[in-house]
Amino acid sequence: MNFFQQFLQKRLQPKLQALRDFSERSELSRFLLSFKREFAYAFWFTALINVLMLTPTLYMLQIFDRVLVSQSEFTLYAVTLMLLFFLGIMSFSEWVRARLLVRLGVKLDMRLNERVFNTAFIMQNEGRDKEAAQLFSDLSRVRQFLTGAGLFAILDAPWTPIYILVLSLLHPFLGILSVIFCLVLAAVAYISGLVMKTPLEESGEAARKESAYLDSKLRHASVVESMGMMGNMRGTWLNHHKESMTRSRRGLDAQTRMQSITRFVRMFQNSLCLGAGAFLVILGKISPGAMIASNALMNRATHPVDALMNAWKDLLAAKKSYLALEKALEDHPHYEPASIVGETVGAALTLHQVRATAEHRQTPILEGISFNLPAGAALGIIGPSGSGKSTLARVILGIWPQTEGEVRYDDMPIRDQDRVAIGAELGYLPQDVELFGGSIAENIARFGAPDPEKIIAACQAAGVHEMILRFTKGYDTEIGEAGRILSGGQRQRIGLARALYGNPRLVVLDEPNANLDDAGEHALLNAVLALKARGTTLVLISHRPQIMSAMDFVLVVENGKVAQFGKPKFADEKNPATPKTGNPRPVALAPVPA
Ligand SMILES: Nc1ncnc2c1ncn2[C@@H]1O[C@H](COP(=O)(O)OP(=O)(O)O)[C@@H](O)[C@H]1O
Ligand SMILES: [Mg+2]
Repeated sequence: MNFFQQFLQKRLQPKLQALRDFSERSELSRFLLSFKREFAYAFWFTALINVLMLTPTLYMLQIFDRVLVSQSEFTLYAVTLMLLFFLGIMSFSEWVRARLLVRLGVKLDMRLNERVFNTAFIMQNEGRDKEAAQLFSDLSRVRQFLTGAGLFAILDAPWTPIYILVLSLLHPFLGILSVIFCLVLAAVAYISGLVMKTPLEESGEAARKESAYLDSKLRHASVVESMGMMGNMRGTWLNHHKESMTRSRRGLDAQTRMQSITRFVRMFQNSLCLGAGAFLVILGKISPGAMIASNALMNRATHPVDALMNAWKDLLAAKKSYLALEKALEDHPHYEPASIVGETVGAALTLHQVRATAEHRQTPILEGISFNLPAGAALGIIGPSGSGKSTLARVILGIWPQTEGEVRYDDMPIRDQDRVAIGAELGYLPQDVELFGGSIAENIARFGAPDPEKIIAACQAAGVHEMILRFTKGYDTEIGEAGRILSGGQRQRIGLARALYGNPRLVVLDEPNANLDDAGEHALLNAVLALKARGTTLVLISHRPQIMSAMDFVLVVENGKVAQFGKPKFADEKNPATPKTGNPRPVALAPVPA
């Protein structure tokens, strides 16, 4: 085995192995490696561009050493034509490479954003809202790095040794000089990375905190303004703002300091190279043409070092984003669409020894919750405020992250289901409704492709069709951010229609009648009866005893535990479903719509 083969085996094998390990490492790395063909093209175009970058230098050499010496016009024309040709190819290659990378960026984004989007939402529900919001900027940072200046810097880097080799061929002394300058620039880059890391991170963090603070206060502007809280809020904001300004100044200071040091090294290198060349010319070692060419070559050789330095900050940020993204996707694997049949028969619900906890809370919110709800049954949940009813609703829907025990939806653990697939089978009206900016129709259709028939069916079932038609724009009425232009009762009724959209198999309503007037209450009762008639499984949380009489089972939650579970018996005074101050008269049931 000759030296070259040995070298390849010793040097290249571990690199290839590392690449293989990397590609096996996670979903994200596998995904990125699936673009290896595009990256390889970018690599080869970069190689071509870098070789052709030498064209002006070679041209200069020809002018000085040939044209000026021979005084031949023909030679000048010939080399100029060649210059034109090669520069043309170089520009074309640069254009193709840029195009390739832009397209690669778009492709990368298109194929990842759905996963990131879904993951961000699930993380939001896990109470990791900051990381969830961060995920999108992580994605764009990784994409920008991999398809922008960062990648160019990395692809250009292997060319430094090649230029150094050419310089060494001109004269070994020039080679040594360029190595020294590369080392100095690399050292400066390394040190600036260390120096800038903390101030830049701190300044980013402070800016994020400030904007998060401002965001949350602006969202609740009406509370702030009505009770004259602006002054107090502004005080706290000013503290955040001052902090963020100080940190940002420190970050910028560190940055400019390092930038001026780099500039100094670069200028010095430029002139020193010329001086060294002149020295070699005086000694008669190289020609004047080679002296000027070596100056250009030295710039090319040290250029990637400089570019890497500029990309250093991006590299750190991109790496951090990459790791965050990788972990988030790893923690939330993609499920193949669930194998559940999509019929509109109710789903059976089984809870076994369920315990729900929350961070910063010693005692569990729910403990030892077990019950069986047959398909198509209606369960009413009552209990004092803070007893854990809303939490139980989220547990049942599989969106409370810290859940232990079993929650089975048609005998399948609900937490293992693909959220998108199972979402269509679930209807949920949260206690604070949570509508989104957009039209009424869009909200009810859950922002999917709107199907007018399904929308109207849902609205009729929820008894809001007439109410919606009374708006001047009807179903197309824009409801503003979070449904700002609607009243509390209207929001709740539209939220109910959204829960009923598309005949879900399990509907969970969390205090759907908190803001309702008589008409709304009546519509709700009708909806409940319609759901029962249709065979939908229903879980309804309410304080009102009346609606409980329409339920098949009633669960009383107290202090996070099941205090009672059974059939509602309203005539019975001792039944806990009848509050002591309540009015246990029988409910006048509305007719069941056909
Ligand atoms: N995200 C949370 N983190 C910590 N505690 C919570 C969280 N959400 C609710 N809780 C607590 O859990 C208890 C039950 O809340 P909840 O289920 O909303 O009660 P209910 O709907 O019965 O009024 C309350 O004491 C509440 O403070
Ligand atoms: Mg609640």
